[in-house]
Amino acid sequence: MRKSTGPGLLGGRTDTGDISPSRLTGNGSGERRAELERGSGPNSQKRRTAPIRRLSILGATGSVGTSTLQLVDHTRDVFEIVALTANTNVEKLAQLAIKYKAELAVIADERQYGELRALLSETGIEAAAGPSGLIEAALRPADCIMAAIMGAAGLQPTLAAISQGSRLALANKECLVCAGDLFMQAVATAGTELLPVDSEHSAAFQALQGAQSCEISRITLTASGGPFRTSTLDELRAATPEQALKHPNWSMGRKITIDSATMMNKGLELIEAYHLFPVRIDQLDVVIHPQSIVHCLVDYIDGSVLAQLASPDMCTPIAYSLSWPARMSSPTASLDLVKIGALTFEAPDYAHFPALRVAKEALQRGGAAPLVLNAANEIAVDAFLCKKLGFLEIAQLVADMLEQADRRNMLSAPAELDQVLALDSEIRQLARGLLGQYG
Ligand SMILES: NC(=O)c1ccc[n+]([C@@H]2O[C@H](COP(=O)([O-])OP(=O)(O)OC[C@H]3O[C@@H](n4cnc5c(N)ncnc54)[C@H](OP(=O)(O)O)[C@@H]3O)[C@@H](O)[C@H]2O)c1
Repeated sequence: MRKSTGPGLLGGRTDTGDISPSRLTGNGSGERRAELERGSGPNSQKRRTAPIRRLSILGATGSVGTSTLQLVDHTRDVFEIVALTANTNVEKLAQLAIKYKAELAVIADERQYGELRALLSETGIEAAAGPSGLIEAALRPADCIMAAIMGAAGLQPTLAAISQGSRLALANKECLVCAGDLFMQAVATAGTELLPVDSEHSAAFQALQGAQSCEISRITLTASGGPFRTSTLDELRAATPEQALKHPNWSMGRKITIDSATMMNKGLELIEAYHLFPVRIDQLDVVIHPQSIVHCLVDYIDGSVLAQLASPDMCTPIAYSLSWPARMSSPTASLDLVKIGALTFEAPDYAHFPALRVAKEALQRGGAAPLVLNAANEIAVDAFLCKKLGFLEIAQLVADMLEQADRRNMLSAPAELDQVLALDSEIRQLARGLLGQYG
């Protein structure tokens, strides 16, 4: 199993091979070194010259899906919408499919297939449902597929999208967290152009353009600190879903908003960055930056630090994922640094944000630990939103699940997708069982 060199950042370079073996896979040193020397990041072999036209969106009804369609509106007639998918929000899906003249609309919840068909009758838009429908949407020929399903549920459709060998704009970070090595191997095999959509990873991607891996000394992801940055531990213990859902800077889906409040999101992003970029774990860092203006900083060996700044609006990283290597206009408000006045930075407090510590430990542990972390976190966040778990108990449950999985010898790296899916399902079941011990 290899760790890829990331989304073509370093294509064509000669590398000095300064990257240590992947601690996640425990092997691949020689393979990876050779890969780095070849400059064989997925995009290095294949760079499209034609602009993206045909666009599919997996998770079209969500926050990233909506921002993507906002860009489609903004650019007018640039994009043709191929396939759109949703989980349960059948009315919004049908409205979007009609508005954007999609070829195919897919509802993951099979019980709503009849309603989708009825809503799309006489429009000429094809309807499909269920897991096979999601795969059909992912496989429908497109220049770019936006992977914006929430959670590990996006893994199979996203892998299907990768197999097209065109461009994948990746928002669904949980895919990389739960199956990073398999995922990156699939990207390399298919020759897919993988473009990060997460704002921090898009920022890193931008700051790394033209870099050689031996020149990079550190990648620092910024984090706003969320709504509880200055809360006391007692306040965190009593935090409600309503309070946690009030993110100070970003408007996002519910799960990622809770992940931002616990800072599990930053932990997932560290794992995502580890798979995307050619750095060791100890070269990845997190800094709290409450204004969410600087999205990532890349330190180079000569002391230079390149950062990307933008107003906190997902339209910017989404635009870059669609237009790279060119740039396109987006509706993001232009940045007024004089108005903002001050940009501040703080070290993260791990006592306040135990989820970040647990995620870093899972990254260090490697094997199936990130998968276990992600599956337990999805269960814990859902339970918190349903008021069955306290805010600080989210990280506690995830840590307990990792400990239990270790005791049961469940942390070896899954070699195949089937093993990933089976383990993911088993961990979810165990985590649901653990829930009974809380509250
Ligand atoms: N929002 C952001 O600003 C942001 C930034 C960076 C990265 N991301 C990442 O992007 C992904 C999407 O985030 P989001 O905030 O857009 O989430 P969201 O608003 O909750 O939207 C999720 C989308 O996925 C669909 N979906 C949910 N569960 C599904 C399932 N089991 N099967 C098939 N489809 C399913 C939803 O359909 P329904 O509408 O029918 O439920 C919706 O279209 C996440 O991985 C997140 O970490 C988001």
